[in-house]
Amino acid sequence: VIGKAANVPPQPEQSGAGGDQIPGHVAIIMDGNGRWAKARGLPRAAGHRQGAEAARKVIRAAGEAGVQCLTLYAFSSENWRRPETEISDLMGLLRFYIGAELNSLHKEGIRLVILGDHKAFPADVAKMVDGAVARTAANSRMTLAIALNYGSRAELVNAARRLAERAKADEIAPADINDAAIEAELDTAGLPPLDLVIRTSGEHRLSNFLLWQAAYAELLFVDRLWPDFDGDALREALSEYAGRERRFGGR
Ligand code: IPE
Ligand code: IPE
Ligand code: MG
Repeated sequence: VIGKAANVPPQPEQSGAGGDQIPGHVAIIMDGNGRWAKARGLPRAAGHRQGAEAARKVIRAAGEAGVQCLTLYAFSSENWRRPETEISDLMGLLRFYIGAELNSLHKEGIRLVILGDHKAFPADVAKMVDGAVARTAANSRMTLAIALNYGSRAELVNAARRLAERAKADEIAPADINDAAIEAELDTAGLPPLDLVIRTSGEHRLSNFLLWQAAYAELLFVDRLWPDFDGDALREALSEYAGRERRFGGR
């Protein structure tokens, strides 16, 4: 057996709680609400409502499975391109769900964090979100990160800008900028390393989601539309993940 060479570069951290088989951090691109509604002759809003139900189920199932962190892509920075009526339906849904779910999330020991810039949302929604984050801040059973007005490129641009400002102020040298320094400036700073990205609805793209964080994540694309996703579908995804061999460039 060859021993560890002194100059082996740092290995990406292994995943967190639950052992090797359970991913420490799962992120989901919840896609297909519109197609789900269309297939039933329903308005898109009905698809989003059913999608919120699916999210509720999946949050519970992830907690029960021992996933340490679950990230849900709820609204991208590009989703502002949708018609105003759809955006306002989504904001209404967010209002409703925070109101209805906050108590039980809190009771279940779930800590809520936000990725992206939710301050661009209507003031009352932004305030509700801040309240929910503050109320659940000390919880530790699972972290639920919701990506709201999130875009990975904007996140990286902001990180670069902050590091440039600190270099200009002589707080750091350009040579100090490494993986860890960049990671510390991302919205995901402090969250466990990303292990698994799931996208529903049969689309095979990342749509500006966690581009840096997904560098060595396992990617799983499933055909099921998001409103049809549930605890069983999540458990299936986790078992698919458990069968994957991760190499991180080694052998
Ligand atoms: C995902 O479903 C929800 C959001 C992006 C907010 P879509 O609304 O994108 O549904 P499709 O892709 O049109 O079916
Ligand atoms: C990605 O889905 C964003 C969310 C799920 C919130 P989209 O439906 O917006 O992505 P594209 O437009 O198909 O790439
Ligand atoms: Mg879509």
